[in-house]
Amino acid sequence: MKKRHIYLTGFMGAGKSRIGRHLADLLNLPFVDTDQEIEKMVGKTVRRIFEEEGEAFFRKQEAEIVRQVSQHPAPRVVALGGGALNDSRSLENIHRSGIVIYLKSAPEAIFKRVAHSRKRPLLDVDEAPDREAILVKRIEDLLQKREGLYLQADIIIDRDGLEAEQVAEKLLILI
Ligand code: S3P
Repeated sequence: MKKRHIYLTGFMGAGKSRIGRHLADLLNLPFVDTDQEIEKMVGKTVRRIFEEEGEAFFRKQEAEIVRQVSQHPAPRVVALGGGALNDSRSLENIHRSGIVIYLKSAPEAIFKRVAHSRKRPLLDVDEAPDREAILVKRIEDLLQKREGLYLQADIIIDRDGLEAEQVAEKLLILI
């Protein structure tokens, strides 16, 4: 299978979907967001899937969508969920079918982007005076566990301090 897709990986809140959309526009390629595809397939939001079916069910759907996307013959820009590379079969499918870009972002910058969003069940922290410290710690711990997988990317770009459009433009030169 020839490498033809462009996959964006990185932690929740790194900007994979926004940057991916800009990059797809610049390259004139279709854009796919695996979370959105899962939501379409299951007919529920990611949050409701986690709440009603559990994480293991979500991961099964995620691996299936990755398999389908990776087998698509025409090139696409694909924003992966932040945990998609954890599945070894998905990791293989992704690297075999495309180049992988890691959108690197620091825990504090991630915190700023996710703090007011209710989209991500893995980052749910109840309102409390030390909510920020708890959430930053959660992000640091999870990032540490996952970064080895992110760092296997073909291209690594530090996206902090840049707008999504600027990151996409920088990527155009790198890919
Ligand atoms: C997850 C990331 C989310 C979504 C789900 C789980 C993760 O996607 O797939 O909430 O395990 O990192 P984003 O990275 O697009 O937020």
